[in-house]
Amino acid sequence: MTFSAFRSAVRVQRRRIAVGVAVLMILVGAAAIWLNRSSGADDDLRAELVSQFGDSYGPGLQASEETTVIELRASPSVAQVLPGVDTDVWAFNGSVPGPALRLPLGETIRIELDNQLPVPTTIHWHGIRVPNAMDGVPGVTQDPVAPGSRNSYEFTPPDAGTFWYHSHTNGSEQLERGLYGSLVVTDPSEPTWSQDIEWVIDDWLLTDTGQIDPDFNTAADVEHNGRWGDTITVNGSTETVLSTQPGERIRLRIINASNGRIFAPRFGALDASVIAVDGLPSRRRLPADGFVIAPGNRIDVDLTIPQPGNYPLVDDFTGDIYELATINVAGDRITTPDFTAPLASDLPVWAEAIDLDVDQEYRLNIRRGQSRWEWTMNDRAYPDVDKFEIEAGSFAKIRLVNDSQLFHPMHLHGQFFKVISRDGQPVDEGHFRDTVLLFPGDEIDIGLVALDTGTWAFHCHIQEHADAGMMTLVDVNDRS
Ligand code: C2O
Ligand code: CU
Repeated sequence: MTFSAFRSAVRVQRRRIAVGVAVLMILVGAAAIWLNRSSGADDDLRAELVSQFGDSYGPGLQASEETTVIELRASPSVAQVLPGVDTDVWAFNGSVPGPALRLPLGETIRIELDNQLPVPTTIHWHGIRVPNAMDGVPGVTQDPVAPGSRNSYEFTPPDAGTFWYHSHTNGSEQLERGLYGSLVVTDPSEPTWSQDIEWVIDDWLLTDTGQIDPDFNTAADVEHNGRWGDTITVNGSTETVLSTQPGERIRLRIINASNGRIFAPRFGALDASVIAVDGLPSRRRLPADGFVIAPGNRIDVDLTIPQPGNYPLVDDFTGDIYELATINVAGDRITTPDFTAPLASDLPVWAEAIDLDVDQEYRLNIRRGQSRWEWTMNDRAYPDVDKFEIEAGSFAKIRLVNDSQLFHPMHLHGQFFKVISRDGQPVDEGHFRDTVLLFPGDEIDIGLVALDTGTWAFHCHIQEHADAGMMTLVDVNDRS
């Protein structure tokens, strides 16, 4: 090659490089504009979803001057789980469930916990949007309350509905022994049912002598769907009967307080629809028959009582039939109270949320830890977790993927959320939740607009899974 031929070759090469660089810069510029536009679109979509959320639920009523003060004494006690048999339990105020707490919306409640147990404990107010410091999660929102010590919880529930309280310390033992109860917030503007009652369902593993099997949190419980027992109670009894007259209209609030068992109640010949899920009203009436209630879940059922007879409420989630309780109808027919059940007609659909990027994904799985099975979220077992940060008032999308062969009812403290999709298909359940059940292999996207700031637990409500590490933390930060 001559020198001039070499120089012209270099020039050609330089020109090619220059052209290449120019093309690259144009591509980079275009990509930047496109990315910008798409993240702009994402922001617009989030803002739109927040505006659809509107005031689906919000700050609640102006707190009234009233404060109800209740003492809850946690202590060893005796209950008749089986008729005529004394079973040693741990109870609030000597009964399982503990006292059925009720207060009107806008009222403040102060609960004085007196821990007379031989172990530390705390109380969590499941589903109630309490100030973070009142949430009852040991090591996160408070120190455990030592035996012989007291702790007071005070809050003004901002939402009316069916909630419950339970120990949040070593739940696989403390819930199983009986430390739970219902907490209903009534809305004085709602219509009056003939009867408005709570049914707290629990599942017990009893020994031959009718005592609670003292072998808690076994490897088998952890490896399976938690502890499933052999005795199912409604309000602490295997023989619960609700006495009604033909024509009555009943608001039946069902709470699943079991460690692990899932229910699908069958109402048979009864005219029953769900009007609220996990406390909050649904957009429309939903079929109550077979509605799946995982540990932590609640449903409010609007029930119209037919002609005299005995109507058993059974469960058939597993395919085996369990009789839960009986509705006995007798006496004269009364005029059925005629009103439209309170529903949330403006509940957002959030269909567009399917197009949104996922902010946080959690893959749920099990692994062999050092000395025990560990249940993990993204291969981390609590307390070895990173907090997921959300800004209050903005829309967040979380993906839950069940990589395991077992059930996981995932419960988020402090916020309600809505299921956006299941296995990539858009879903509008027509209600918010605080607990969603994942079957093996499920991929569920949930959306929420967090309102309440603080560090909130997010965990599986199967107590043995949670105690084996299946819990993480979500930080809701003030916008600013
Ligand atoms: Cu009902 Cu963190 O629990
Ligand atoms: Cu689980």
